[in-house]
Amino acid sequence: MTDDLLAQIRVAGGVPRHVAVIMDGNGRWARERGLPRPFGHRAGMKAVREVVEGAIEAGVEVLTLFAFSEENWQRPVTEISALMQLLEEYIAREVAELHSQGVAVHVLGDRERLAPGARAAVERIERETRDGQRLALNLCISYSSRAELARAARLIAEDVLKGVKRLEDIDEEAVRERLYTAPWRDPDLLIRTSGEYRVSNFLLWQLAYAELYITPVLWPDVTRRDLFQAILDYQRRDRRFGRVTA
Ligand code: FPP
Repeated sequence: MTDDLLAQIRVAGGVPRHVAVIMDGNGRWARERGLPRPFGHRAGMKAVREVVEGAIEAGVEVLTLFAFSEENWQRPVTEISALMQLLEEYIAREVAELHSQGVAVHVLGDRERLAPGARAAVERIERETRDGQRLALNLCISYSSRAELARAARLIAEDVLKGVKRLEDIDEEAVRERLYTAPWRDPDLLIRTSGEYRVSNFLLWQLAYAELYITPVLWPDVTRRDLFQAILDYQRRDRRFGRVTA
């Protein structure tokens, strides 16, 4: 039962509006069971569903999940194709349910690198869920934060070269609005599973003032209870944004 935790969240108030998650530990989960790594990723799909549903129940507005990094392209080709197949399977299996739950899915990252089938699936889920009003679900796929920042710099430089932007107008807002995450506020809370204390090239700009929550639980074992525990922990934090408390 999770009602107890949800009730505590409601009493505490101040639910994080944007939660970002580094879903880590699929490989270790599989190894602990003597299984090949893709089995861990498959088990991780269930945790994605848990966390999406938990986010809706708790009243989170934006959930950003790190599903596949640019660096992950260096993994063995069998693991990459298993992950891409899972992505397509996830989309085929979940699109109707996500749509009926009011979830709008967005895919952030370099989608040019995706195989045609995966790219078509990504375009399909974005198209079929675009009117979702309850939760924005951002799946970061073929994403790295440094590449995102380099892309933003390139886009700004193009505007300067075209004469639509002056050098002196380049400020934080100019960068912010060229990030994949431009439509959403910065994450309030970053959760990382599997007990690793790293940000791993994820949302480096956007996490400037996020509260961090690290849990030892491996991603496939995550349930909505873990999300609720993280939210409760967040609700006890004193966020000062570099200022002093009144
Ligand atoms: C990190 O674990 C996880 C990934 C690289 C993939 C994440 C994918 C999923 C959760 C399943 C599919 C999700 C969607 C949205 C379709 P790791 O492999 O680095 O684990 P390790 O650190 O234990 O080796």
